[in-house]
Amino acid sequence: MKLIIDTANVKEIKRLCEILNVWGVTTNPTIISKENKPFEEVISDIDKVLEKDQVLFVQVVSTDYESIVKEGRYIATLRKNIVAKIPVTADGLKAIKTLHKEGIKILATAINNATQGFVAALNGAEYLAPYVNRMTNYTDGVEETIILQQMLDAHDLDTEIIAASLKNTGQVKELIRNGIESVTLPVDIADLMYLNPATDTAVEAFTNSWYKAYNKKTLI
Ligand code: E4P
Repeated sequence: MKLIIDTANVKEIKRLCEILNVWGVTTNPTIISKENKPFEEVISDIDKVLEKDQVLFVQVVSTDYESIVKEGRYIATLRKNIVAKIPVTADGLKAIKTLHKEGIKILATAINNATQGFVAALNGAEYLAPYVNRMTNYTDGVEETIILQQMLDAHDLDTEIIAASLKNTGQVKELIRNGIESVTLPVDIADLMYLNPATDTAVEAFTNSWYKAYNKKTLI
């Protein structure tokens, strides 16, 4: 099981990497543009806070086959442990085939139904990002992601699902308990995975009992 953080904000990446077992970081053009810095600077800043074995996902921006391939190749040069994200369109699927043959690792993204994910897997994508919450506008996003996993399993495809576009921990829980290998979490959802006011209340009560008895708030 892999926990991934869906942000390009270096402060948040650093903070969450200290708290959680973060396997990697996903970005997309919208996420990167929020940093108000040149693209290369965003990538180099993220690279500085990530360990070598933590994976970074960077998405192409172009939409035509030739330019997607060019950008995919460029992304592959940015860092050793990097995966190019390519949306599942006709041009994207063609580019996935080409880049896969060149040994470039690909996450097929913007997947809004199970068949899109399945054909991208057949084209050689290592990872698939179904947009769980966005799908909810049309169908049950969690269920569609589970169907995609079943389709991969039925045909012994080892392409990994990285469930994306997650908006609450309920969705995350359902995916994890149904065996989905990876989830990429926006910062607020990553925090909600472990924060609970009842835990804070319990800790406060322990501290108060201790203080009353020993007049200090530490063990030693
Ligand atoms: C991550 O890889 C995706 O780009 C991201 O999760 C999309 O999420 P959104 O639906 O919040 O934009």
